[in-house]
Amino acid sequence: MSNDRLKLLLTRRWPEAVEAYLRERFDVTVDEADRPLDASALRSAMHSFDIVCPTVSDRIGADVLDLPDARVRLLASYGVGLDHIDLAAAKRAGIVVTNTPDVLTEATADLAILLMLMASRRAGEGERELRAGAWAGWRPTHLMGQSIAGKLLGLVGFGRIARAVAGRARGFGMRIAYYGRTRADASVEEATAAQFYPSLESLAAEADVLSLHCPGGPATRHLINAALLARMKPSSILVNTARGSVVDEAALADALVERRICSAALDVYEHEPRVTSALVDMPNVVLLPHLGSATLETREAMGMRVASNIEAFISGGEPRDRVA
Ligand code: DGY
Repeated sequence: MSNDRLKLLLTRRWPEAVEAYLRERFDVTVDEADRPLDASALRSAMHSFDIVCPTVSDRIGADVLDLPDARVRLLASYGVGLDHIDLAAAKRAGIVVTNTPDVLTEATADLAILLMLMASRRAGEGERELRAGAWAGWRPTHLMGQSIAGKLLGLVGFGRIARAVAGRARGFGMRIAYYGRTRADASVEEATAAQFYPSLESLAAEADVLSLHCPGGPATRHLINAALLARMKPSSILVNTARGSVVDEAALADALVERRICSAALDVYEHEPRVTSALVDMPNVVLLPHLGSATLETREAMGMRVASNIEAFISGGEPRDRVA
């Protein structure tokens, strides 16, 4: 593909430095409205651009991809998750798809730890109380949370981000366990001091904090459901920085109301940006608006990773993050 007059669409605003880098090299259109594009806008983009750079908030299904005479040759997605793109449909259409792994690992792991600490130390409750002018001063029984030292952190999925979380959690004196479809090499288990659990049920039953790090999509939809939540300890905390679809949000709300688990700390939701209202009303739930990778450094690195995938693609090479 020649770079001459290549038309490129960014479906959202990107960090300034990355937008500038791309504008110097391509004919870039940015959706200034900075809202998710609907299927009809995405379909029209498939006809008007050579390269579309969607984000995790654009749903690119077969209805968008199965188009006769589409112009797009590359979907260079900004983000690591891929559940928003129908990869099989992209393959059928001969459209290459790339993502941005690695560069957001540390930021997302930081956020998982932040959520765990906020929930275990009741930080949101405390901050809301203080801001509401309702703080009655220090007292021995005020907002007592749970210590995490010595507790078992159960990681669901054991990819890059989970391993980075394990490293941080060891620093807090936690014990580490994980469940994944395939067992990691012994050397990885040794390096992370993580113990493999052969079933999610057994991990859920023993973990003090269950932290989700598996991909989204049909295979993991509602992996955390009423039956699984019923196995967790009443003192346990659920942390989700993976994908909202992994948790049955209604079942989670029920489990929290009935105190079957102690609390939840969430960064992602089943129907973003909508959040089950029962969760919003609960004091023992920490809710962040999908901030896992939201540092300037990380968001710039994600953009530059997209740029390098595009550059490899147009020069006829294999983009390093090709997934379809
Ligand atoms: C991703 O990249 O998949 C995140 O959810 C957004 O950072």
